[in-house]
Amino acid sequence: MATRIQLGNDVSWELVYKRNNVERLKRDKFPLGIVDELPQMIETGYEDIPEEDMVRLYWYGIAHDKPKVGTFMVRLKVPCGIVTPAQMRGVGLISERYGDNYGELTTRMGIQLHHVRLEHLPDVLQAIQDTGLTTTGAEGDTVRNITGCPLSGIQPEEVFDVRPYIDQAHQFFTGNRTYSDLPRKFKLTFSACPHQCSGPHFHDVAFLAVIHEGQPGFTVRVGGGLSSTPRLSRDLRMFVPEDQAIAVLQTLLDIWREDLTYRLSRPKSRLKFLVDDYGPDAVRAMVEERMGRRFQELAAPEPVPGDLAHLGVHAQKQEGLFSMGYAVPQGWVSGTQLQQLADVLDEVGGHARFTRQQNFILADIPEARLGWVEAQVEEIGFSLKRNRVFGHSVACTDHRYCNYSVAETKNKAQEILEELDRRFGDEVEEGLSLYVDGCPHACAHHWVGNIGLQGTSIQAENGERIEAYDISLRGGLGNEAAIGKPLLRRIPSEQATEVVMRLVEAWLTERRAQSNGAAARYTFRDFCDNHSDEELKAIALGTEVEEVDLSDRVILQLSGPLLHFTGGIEQYEARPIQARTVRSLIQGLLRRYKALEPQILDEKGEPVEHVLIFVNEEDIRGLQGLDTRLQAGDHVFILPALSGG
Ligand code: HEM
Ligand code: SF4
Repeated sequence: MATRIQLGNDVSWELVYKRNNVERLKRDKFPLGIVDELPQMIETGYEDIPEEDMVRLYWYGIAHDKPKVGTFMVRLKVPCGIVTPAQMRGVGLISERYGDNYGELTTRMGIQLHHVRLEHLPDVLQAIQDTGLTTTGAEGDTVRNITGCPLSGIQPEEVFDVRPYIDQAHQFFTGNRTYSDLPRKFKLTFSACPHQCSGPHFHDVAFLAVIHEGQPGFTVRVGGGLSSTPRLSRDLRMFVPEDQAIAVLQTLLDIWREDLTYRLSRPKSRLKFLVDDYGPDAVRAMVEERMGRRFQELAAPEPVPGDLAHLGVHAQKQEGLFSMGYAVPQGWVSGTQLQQLADVLDEVGGHARFTRQQNFILADIPEARLGWVEAQVEEIGFSLKRNRVFGHSVACTDHRYCNYSVAETKNKAQEILEELDRRFGDEVEEGLSLYVDGCPHACAHHWVGNIGLQGTSIQAENGERIEAYDISLRGGLGNEAAIGKPLLRRIPSEQATEVVMRLVEAWLTERRAQSNGAAARYTFRDFCDNHSDEELKAIALGTEVEEVDLSDRVILQLSGPLLHFTGGIEQYEARPIQARTVRSLIQGLLRRYKALEPQILDEKGEPVEHVLIFVNEEDIRGLQGLDTRLQAGDHVFILPALSGG
């Protein structure tokens, strides 16, 4: 057992209160309960409500649309995004009646309303409660809406159904005084989808379902988060039996909330900083020490390439039932549409799921009713035929409602996506995601979009402020999980669309040149990986670039069962400078497809017995093994030994 680790032992509450206003306002009057004061606030009038009480309202998912406009955003929690038709109808009615008939599906699988007047808040909260949903803890220093794969419980490939754990955690943490006084917000996901579509890499804590030695349980990743200091979560390399999941979660939260270091400064308070400070091994040791037990060592599974948005029609694990995933541009859905969708779902006994990509999926649709549902939903305004790039893309709530926004988001994303659709049509349906944020807070996760736009501004010569974007490339989720690199700075808004078009055009040109099978799976991220930063910048800015000539590359070819771990991609290319030997070529390959590693290398980093590696048809065992040197034009093949290659 590790030695006792002293946490935050030189920080006093006195210092915390001195440094951190939010901690002080929590001490002075704890935010849970502030809604009981709404009648007084209404009487006082919007203008005279103390700003501290406005902050306390966050704990109930209520925030200014923008200071001084006098209306509010109300954010609902929807655990795992799963809603009944009755709940959709209820929320739709509330939106119609109190929220200007406007709704936004959110990146945490929830939904939020805007335009709600102060005097209507009590009725709105009551009406939400009547639907069985809640806003409690949708903002503030709480456990936020808990996410998962939107196909949880119905996807044939899932490891097991994690909905009971999501429900249990939601019940336990919602409104729980102790866990509503965290150092900062806390984002949790339970992932059982092989593609890890819910984004465990950017969550504070992610439980990844596994069956280990016949026992269901979870591996745990911790310390992910975006905003202006993005981090990918780190693997605790431990196997948590399923009945211990909530206890481990509680312990992690206790370690963090009791360490006053993380209450001193809001920008340094997220769990990711604790994980930075101690490292995953020490965090795991702390959990084990507190729980007085050890957990088995087990690495988190690597995501298998595949569709992260679950768009289109898919058979469920329940025989005869199907899911229908709709691309919803910018998550825009009106109250009327929510009610109309609810009516359709009632007709066929289905329900809906809101997704991280601000889309919805209709679930439990009987096969015989698919055509009817599709026609009805088309009339409501959503189409299965809509270009899927809309469904792979997200944008934050926008300058109309958010005070931090420095550039258009939803409308800009819409403009770019419409142009992509117009120019490239179904060629951009798969392999590309565009995430747009109005500021560094990254509510729409621009760091992990394949193309990420973050609003910024520049000053024109006449001193006028012009909206602009920093554009990140090389980001992704699932098997492409990585924080993007802001390669293009301060691109004026009016040029941003064209910059994206140039990049996409160059990607598609390369993709068209690939063999049929590979073309479909050559993603935008692959394109970025195949180019240097300078090349990408030149392409984006429209400067002359040299043709990409594959004869100056080393090409690696995979086949058979190995393709399962690359999403079917059989070819990987590298420049000789990045692949001087077979070893460095394979290291590059494994950086892209981590799930492939145990299939190719053993613990000592040597080829496993059941694969054979050839360079231009020569078995490397007859050459210098993994140290065999490579040059431009070489072809390397990795074949399962039994294929006879
Ligand atoms: C200090 C200010 C804020 C910070 C640091 C912040 C940060 C974030 C971050 C990092 C997320 C990503 C959620 C995730 O990781 O899953 C998020 C979600 C979101 N934020 Fe903010 N945000 C702030 C203020 C606002 C405001 C003022 C609004 C709107 C009025 C807003 C709207 C949203 C929306 C719509 C989401 C997605 C909602 C959800 O899925 O729960 N944010 N925020
Ligand atoms: S990313 Fe910035 S602009 Fe967009 S909703 Fe979040 S805080 Fe507002």
